[in-house]
Amino acid sequence: MEFIQNTVKENQESPENLGDEAAAQAVKFHRGIPGYQETQLISLEQLSRLLEVKGIFVKDESTRFGLNAFKGLGGTYAMFRMLCTHLGWNPEEREFEDFQKEEVRQQLSQITFITATDGNHGKGVAFAAKLFACKAHVLMPKGSSLQRARAIREAGPAVVEITEKNYDETVELAWEMSRRQGWLLIQDTAWEGYEEVPRWIIQGYLTMAWEAVCQLEGRGMEPTHVFLQAGVGAMAGGVTGYLMNHYRKRRPAVIIAEPEAAACIFLSARAGDGRAHSVEGEPQTIMAGLNCGTPCRITWPILRDFASGYLSCSDSVAAYGMRRYRTPEQRDAPVISGESGAVTLGAAALLLQEKAFSHWKEQMGLGKDSVILLINTEGDTDPESYRAIVT
Ligand SMILES: Cc1ncc(COP(=O)(O)O)c(C=O)c1O
Repeated sequence: MEFIQNTVKENQESPENLGDEAAAQAVKFHRGIPGYQETQLISLEQLSRLLEVKGIFVKDESTRFGLNAFKGLGGTYAMFRMLCTHLGWNPEEREFEDFQKEEVRQQLSQITFITATDGNHGKGVAFAAKLFACKAHVLMPKGSSLQRARAIREAGPAVVEITEKNYDETVELAWEMSRRQGWLLIQDTAWEGYEEVPRWIIQGYLTMAWEAVCQLEGRGMEPTHVFLQAGVGAMAGGVTGYLMNHYRKRRPAVIIAEPEAAACIFLSARAGDGRAHSVEGEPQTIMAGLNCGTPCRITWPILRDFASGYLSCSDSVAAYGMRRYRTPEQRDAPVISGESGAVTLGAAALLLQEKAFSHWKEQMGLGKDSVILLINTEGDTDPESYRAIVT
């Protein structure tokens, strides 16, 4: 692992549009989706004792909407907002129920959404297309797992194509195809001129942050340290933005974890010029969901200004986290966590227990009073690879 510490300025204005009000809107919408259930916040009590911290809590997103990952929160909420725009509806006055009328469904059945994905976002978009009676076209980068492609088709009415391009190029292709075909691009990252939809996706993720904070508060806890995994950093930036708004004077330290092969946020932080930088080429990592080379334009400034540190992690850190989740300390509940879901537990456990990392542990202010929040962002989304790693 490599670590870069960041100094977060106190009293810095919290990021806009990511506070409790935005979260409440997303929560209101998600609660209307049939089958919506809060995901569990699991306390790894024995592990926290062993690692000598006050608490380790895991928000387990593997059960979200039956999709095995958190991503459906963003796809559904953005599709809701895009369709409200299409229909000329005020989203604040609308809910999921309004889309169930036959004449509305008829009208929406003419719409096709397109996206690029390494798996989980595409599944969320296919699922959302089914909910809203639309169609979906999903592009995946070269080398994508066939199991992940199948899971997208199973989630909803999606045509899925594996391209000959890397992730960033596949995103560009999705953008071009949307122009050519008149389809609606629903992409979970932002660039110049494409910000509205990703902003809604990011706001959709706030439901999980809101739930986690309420669940922690229900146990009389506040997080002191939050480890967040990042691909383009949209999820991490959204959750960080929410935490900064919600806790204001008692803001937790946020630590961003990425695969070393595609550590675009880590590299941007290291460059130190305030700008986002991309990783070129075709990065290889088992953390498919985090294999993204370019930071999201909306959330990079949030991660630059509000994260306390950045970790670049080898694949072995993710594999270690997966095994640690699967075979927990006595009496802690086992958690099924895929490669991208588990890297934060792997990193946190190594930081807390390995002498070699004690200076970073100190820099992060981790110790006996720390309450650590982790998000298991996915279950075994590639079951074959999962089995090979944990057994
Ligand atoms: C399981 C999982 N975790 C985390 C992420 C990271 O999200 P982001 O790309 O917004 O950083 C992804 C992205 O696809 C993912 O699939």
